[in-house]
Amino acid sequence: MTQAPLIDPFARPINYLRVSVTDRCDFRCVYCMAENMTFLPKKELLTLEELDRMCSAFVGLGVEKLRITGGEPLVRRGIMTFFESMARHLDSGALRELTLTTNGSQLRRFAQDLAALGVKRVNISLDTLDEKKFADITRWGRLPQVLDGIEAAQEAGMRVKINTVALKGFNEDELFTLVDWCAGRGMDLTFIEVMPMGDLGNEDRLDQYWPLKDLRARLEERFTTIDLAENTGGPARYVRLAETGQKIGFITPLTHNFCESCNRVRLTCTGELYMCLGQEDMADLRAPLRAHPEDDAPLVEAIRAAIARKPRGHDFDYSRQQVGGQMSRHMSHTGG
Ligand code: GTP
Ligand code: 5AD
Ligand code: SF4
Repeated sequence: MTQAPLIDPFARPINYLRVSVTDRCDFRCVYCMAENMTFLPKKELLTLEELDRMCSAFVGLGVEKLRITGGEPLVRRGIMTFFESMARHLDSGALRELTLTTNGSQLRRFAQDLAALGVKRVNISLDTLDEKKFADITRWGRLPQVLDGIEAAQEAGMRVKINTVALKGFNEDELFTLVDWCAGRGMDLTFIEVMPMGDLGNEDRLDQYWPLKDLRARLEERFTTIDLAENTGGPARYVRLAETGQKIGFITPLTHNFCESCNRVRLTCTGELYMCLGQEDMADLRAPLRAHPEDDAPLVEAIRAAIARKPRGHDFDYSRQQVGGQMSRHMSHTGG
């Protein structure tokens, strides 16, 4: 790093960039997208070269962890070219981790190449192991294809973390099935509290909300949990199950706010920088990037100005039996 690192107004160092490379997806998960989404026209998107310049500017400012998201990142055309170019920052030692969050549908095709480029870990979303329920929650997804993708990732030598959104009345009954299934395959498992994003009706969201303190209590009926100090640089807090040695993560935006240790910002595929997942404020980085093709200084200045207004945290809140802090923006806009 040649320049002063990014520090926000609450003295939090920003060293984790999540980059959504497309707003498109081959699934339509009910908590993430509407069934009839209008996607961005292609000319709005940053080109792969522009994405490279953008991410490289952040790496120059001390970003050590880059997570590629979507929509579904692996449906973006030419995406492997982009991973290839980002791998040079792994080789130089500037990046500590290059990784992605994916729905798994395209991993059979890409896992070997990703692993060869230095992607050591991949987070894959999976809310149920029941084929029918999977089709219901993803609207367009097919479970066997995802299971095959997960297998491909493991065959390629990547560590797999499964992300499961905890949904009352949907996957409550699969808690132990999911835990056992992951344990049997040597995969970590992280549960996420459902957040009020997108245009789903408030009632549905409250009905679906399964607080992770309840999930954890259920888990402890069968297992002894040991708190781990370990931190991957993400918001998850981990426990180890004494009986199996397995690691379980909890992402708890609702029951335990983790914003005080936030270290990340999110870039969308059109070059908007969201300083918080749960706030509307964003900065347009595409304008300074395009206006100065040969000079990164205006872009760097715009990044610093954006970080200087990073908010304290989100306002998501389901207490008082109503939804607070809702974002009309869909999760697919920023990739979670
Ligand atoms: P690890 O590197 O494995 O720790 O990844 P991670 O947990 O940072 O990334 P992942 O993509 O697996 O995140 C899972 C989900 O957690 C995201 O899709 C979001 O739903 C949620 N999440 C991640 N970061 C934040 C955050 O800053 N705020 C909130 N409210 N939710 C977040
Ligand atoms: N609340 C919590 N997690 C969500 N995800 C998508 N929408 C939501 C939501 N409303 C998760 C997906 C995936 C990641 C990209 O974000 O399940 O793991
Ligand atoms: Fe696609 Fe992931 Fe959103 Fe599901 S949660 S629609 S897989 S981007």
